[in-house]
Amino acid sequence: MILVTGASGGVGTALCLELAARGEDLALTARDRGRLEALAERVRAAGGTATVHPCDLRDQEAVAELAAEVLALHGAPSAVVSLAGHSLRRSLADTIGRPHDLVRLTGTNMLGPAALLLALLAPMSRAGGGRLLVATSASARIPTPGWAAYGASKAGMDAWLRAIRPEAEQAGVRITVVELPLVATAMAAPTYGDRPRGALTPAQAAARVLRGLDRAPAMVSPPWARLAAVLSQAAPALAARGAGTGAEVARRLAARTSAPCGREGQGRGPGGQGRADQERRR
Ligand SMILES: NC(=O)c1ccc[n+]([C@@H]2O[C@H](COP(=O)([O-])OP(=O)(O)OC[C@H]3O[C@@H](n4cnc5c(N)ncnc54)[C@H](OP(=O)(O)O)[C@@H]3O)[C@@H](O)[C@H]2O)c1
Repeated sequence: MILVTGASGGVGTALCLELAARGEDLALTARDRGRLEALAERVRAAGGTATVHPCDLRDQEAVAELAAEVLALHGAPSAVVSLAGHSLRRSLADTIGRPHDLVRLTGTNMLGPAALLLALLAPMSRAGGGRLLVATSASARIPTPGWAAYGASKAGMDAWLRAIRPEAEQAGVRITVVELPLVATAMAAPTYGDRPRGALTPAQAAARVLRGLDRAPAMVSPPWARLAAVLSQAAPALAARGAGTGAEVARRLAARTSAPCGREGQGRGPGGQGRADQERRR
């Protein structure tokens, strides 16, 4: 059985349907039960099996219950694909007085997923091993103004996974981190619109995740993101200046292109017009 978190999201749904076509047994989790049940129907119709396990990853007790429920029903998963995520674009000025942004984002993008993996690692190891695959973001390793809380939450998860990798792999559990670029899903829409130029489709992103699952590399990441990450480590002051300039250029471009016809809060670039903060849901 493969446990997929964020199963009902754009990338998660596309991935689950691919796995279903292979006849996989899936355990699906996210918060909204209705969306999970609708997806489970589609998984069954596509040739897989699915059980649904609603859970808010920000709630550590609920995460422990989720792990216990999945283990009791299925035994240890052969793989966990951690796709659940929450994003938020907000400038530093607008973040002042909002430390809870960090709490919310780390809860969904790091603390909840890490707690879930901690609860499953030992049973997976006892069952002969397995795979963990976690979606992070290029902004985890590249300074991205406006995305500080999101980038920090993904970077925290990335650092945690790198640190546990040697011990996890000794226990038979291989870890793959997938750094996704922009994907045209509900997560990206409030900032970039429904069809952002240059974005992957959910199916393309799911194909990257699936390749990661099949081949088990330590990391799946676009070459440009790897290069930018190395440069930002080697020359942090220069990288910060470059990121600041890039954000300002993007803000001006977006101000020019989105003002007359953009929907409220739907600027076409990282600095788009509209709300100062853009996120899918609170
Ligand atoms: N889209 C992009 O441009 C992009 C770029 C880089 C990385 N990523 C990463 O790729 C992964 C998939 O993103 P996506 O684009 O498919 O996003 P999405 O369409 O917004 O889906 C997010 C999924 O996470 C679930 N979720 C959100 N908050 C949750 C919580 N507190 N507890 C449990 N589940 C929660 C959502 O379901 P409920 O709302 O029902 O809980 C949904 O299933 C994420 O980790 C994201 O950070 C995305």
